[in-house]
Amino acid sequence: MSFTFALMSPKGGVGKTTTAVILASQIVRLGKSVTLIEADPNAHLQRWARQGRLPDSVQVVFDDDPDGLSLQGHIDCAREQSDYIVIDTEGTNNDRAFIAAHCADLVIIPMQFSSMDLAGATAAMGRLDRMEQDGGSPIFRALVPTKVSQAIRPASQIETELALTAAGIPILSPGIVEKDAYRLMLANGCLLQDLPLYTKVANIQPAIDNIQAVLNAMAEFYGNAIQT
Ligand SMILES: Nc1ncnc2c1ncn2[C@@H]1O[C@H](COP(=O)(O)OP(=O)(O)OP(=O)(O)O)[C@@H](O)[C@H]1O
Ligand SMILES: [Mg+2]
Repeated sequence: MSFTFALMSPKGGVGKTTTAVILASQIVRLGKSVTLIEADPNAHLQRWARQGRLPDSVQVVFDDDPDGLSLQGHIDCAREQSDYIVIDTEGTNNDRAFIAAHCADLVIIPMQFSSMDLAGATAAMGRLDRMEQDGGSPIFRALVPTKVSQAIRPASQIETELALTAAGIPILSPGIVEKDAYRLMLANGCLLQDLPLYTKVANIQPAIDNIQAVLNAMAEFYGNAIQT
């Protein structure tokens, strides 16, 4: 039985691809296999994977149908091969991202603590609500803060958290901390834990601990969601 994550956000540059790759890194660290499905014509994952530095437990598949009609087929194939599937979508309000969301066990909506990201994330949540009502089956989804400061909790964060709580929208904690190791991992075409093999990097353990904590928060959120 595989588990499917879909990363989506109508806003570009919030950290969908980075989150997809750090999730894949941690899944592999835990001894499992993962297929990343790239449903983004910008092909950032393809460029990352092309460097040939990924273990066999990571497969990267490019979905080249902009309408998303082939996505379900890719997911069905990936389910035969991998323990986990992570779908990375394009940062626009596109139908393919919503098809990915429909196929996923858990939809992750990365967002930074800004009013623009908040507007994008709540719009995506609203459309998922309508899909849920039309389709009749639940779509489990959570906002995940990205590029969070480890040192401080700025006023923009406090304000955004209050607005989300007032709207009854769940936001996971902890968020994904802003770390150079995550940028280097994308640039070097490798998993997070393999980064020291390819470049000079400071201690990566805090980054590994951060993504494990994020994964734990996702598991807890999903566990609670399916019980209610
Ligand atoms: N946690 C993080 N720490 C450091 N840099 C980050 C982090 N998350 C994202 N970034 C950087 O922010 C930029 C955008 O991130 P990313 O490409 O993952 O976003 P995206 O949502 O996939 O964008 P797009 O919508 O264009 O596909 C990249 O330069 C990436 O390296
Ligand atoms: Mg991306």
